[in-house]
Amino acid sequence: MKIQENIPLASYTTFKIGGPARFFCIVTSVDEVKSAVIFAKENSVPFFVLGGGSNLLVSDTGFPGLVIKVEIKGIEIKEVGNNENEIIRVGAGEMWDDLVEYTVKNGWNGLENLSAIPGTVGAAPVQNIGAYGTEVGYFISVVNVFDTKEMKEVTMLPRDCHFGYRNSTFKHEKGRYVITSVDFKLNKDGKVSIEYRDLKEYFSKVSTDRGNGEVTPSQVREAVIDIRWNKLPDWNKWGTAGSFFKNPVISKEKFDELKTKYPALPGFPEISIGGKSDGQMKIPLGWILDNVCKAKGVTSGGVGTYKNQALVIVTKSGATAKEVVDFTQGLMKQVKEATGITVEAEVEWVN
Ligand code: EPU
Repeated sequence: MKIQENIPLASYTTFKIGGPARFFCIVTSVDEVKSAVIFAKENSVPFFVLGGGSNLLVSDTGFPGLVIKVEIKGIEIKEVGNNENEIIRVGAGEMWDDLVEYTVKNGWNGLENLSAIPGTVGAAPVQNIGAYGTEVGYFISVVNVFDTKEMKEVTMLPRDCHFGYRNSTFKHEKGRYVITSVDFKLNKDGKVSIEYRDLKEYFSKVSTDRGNGEVTPSQVREAVIDIRWNKLPDWNKWGTAGSFFKNPVISKEKFDELKTKYPALPGFPEISIGGKSDGQMKIPLGWILDNVCKAKGVTSGGVGTYKNQALVIVTKSGATAKEVVDFTQGLMKQVKEATGITVEAEVEWVN
């Protein structure tokens, strides 16, 4: 493992923004993770774990410590179940969508709704990636980590991970755990989940292979890719990290109050992974930015909201982190003034 110095981070992020890392290394094994953490501790610098860089905004001045880029690879079947499910172990450095493609091709279902999400497998549990009616936490059997506090490998069960909406222990205890691999429990029963509005609409128009009205996991994957392609920007053309903000979760009373003012405002009971809804409502901030703030497709210099999805920030080549921060803070202020809601960023700020 080689420790490099002053490595520009922009090309390691999908925003294509950010200054240099003081130190930088690529790790391909748990032992190398340990060596990297020891280096950071011995040199008294902070460290930061980088996966696919698809949910980050790196400051223009860069990161003053060690960036550890995790490239631990491998997919192996760990446990063959009773025909209903199987457990596969996947290295944290595998690309998320390669895994989804692989599972669908091999007849495992469950992950197809999470198709075409950029980033690595190791980053998926951190923010409990979710889309089209599902979240990765539902399919995780264990997360294998290196605990940098205890300096040892630990196996974390889902209940230790505290998965929530774009949330987990790995966010609460930021920097403590380096995810090295993830064990997924996948089904083989061919059942799909197509309740999410966009999917329902899609399958009401498109006929299905089986001809009996049943939809296959690979069709769900195709549908999700199609929907995302139409709604979300092309990552090769724009700098972006997808949704920049989290959708707000508000009380039922607050929702009713906003609904009186904006009758068309959509809202969904927020169900935690444990399956209980405590009466709170999740509302699409994209809708508010679009319909209340009239901020869809609005640009300022090199930064803007995407023309088809106001929750997504896009940047042009040459844009700076400062421009993104100024622009997004402006949006947060508009939302606060119009609705009283304090918006939280979904994207992680690295500085
Ligand atoms: N909407 C608008 N205008 C907009 C954007 C959205 O009116 O500019 C409305 C839509 O018409 C729809 C509702 O808002 O009624 C929700 O929109 P959408 O289905 O696109 O989902 P979202 O809530 O904006 C979330 C995730 C996405 C994920 C989609 C699909 C968050 C922060 N974002 O977006 O995740 O792909 O659902 O499940 O929860 C990401 O995290 O980077 C990401 C793209």
